[in-house]
Amino acid sequence: MSKHSNGLPKRCVITIDGPAGVGKSTAARLLAQRLGLVYLDTGATYRALAYAALQQGVALDREPQLARLARALPLRLSQTRNGALVVWLGSRNITRPIRTERVTEAAAAIAQHPRVRAALVQLQRRLANSTRLVAEGRDTGTVVFPRAPLKFFLTAKARIRAGRRRAEMQSLEGRSPALPVILKQLKARDQLDRRRHVGPLVKPAGAVVLDTSSLDAEAVVERMLRHLPEILVASIR
Ligand code: DC
Repeated sequence: MSKHSNGLPKRCVITIDGPAGVGKSTAARLLAQRLGLVYLDTGATYRALAYAALQQGVALDREPQLARLARALPLRLSQTRNGALVVWLGSRNITRPIRTERVTEAAAAIAQHPRVRAALVQLQRRLANSTRLVAEGRDTGTVVFPRAPLKFFLTAKARIRAGRRRAEMQSLEGRSPALPVILKQLKARDQLDRRRHVGPLVKPAGAVVLDTSSLDAEAVVERMLRHLPEILVASIR
């Protein structure tokens, strides 16, 4: 078994899946930072494509055009010194604009198209460009990196997820709809995520389930770290 200095094997993909507002991004970023792994936010690829489609006036129901756009998307991800994700489309920093409500809704719509998903999964694997990473999204443990030796599936009560989403919108846009409105939108997006035929949101086989309803990101990461030995076990199987 070939190992790096932090004791982890060369192939070390950790996946974190779960619905919106469950705390995946923060946990994934912190975990990657703690372990010195690359952090891959697959949701950012759906958001970047939705942003590009809105910019270029491509209708959100035109699957072939969207898939073509996805295959040629000049997307790049980088990280700041403190580990925050920076999303680039060509030379344009689109980190903030892809978090607006409009792009959030558009991303949920385009994520339904199988050909778009196929193109973005290819892009995600290319972006990963490493066998040592923490990937987060909806299908990272089932479709994107099905052979990952350690998988997590996060859950949390819908009301709590809506509250987190509201706080995020407040800080991003300086305003947000009332909690019941956000809750309704969140449940609608959950249905889209769970019911689609390709890459639906499901618990990957063998994934560790963590309920984050009463946990902050640090506590989630602490719990995740307890499962690290499973990677070593998987790597010698
Ligand atoms: O995690 P997020 O909110 O940034 O994701 C944005 C959208 O992309 C969301 O509607 C679900 C979709 N998505 C997906 O279908 N598959 C993924 N692996 C990641 C995100």
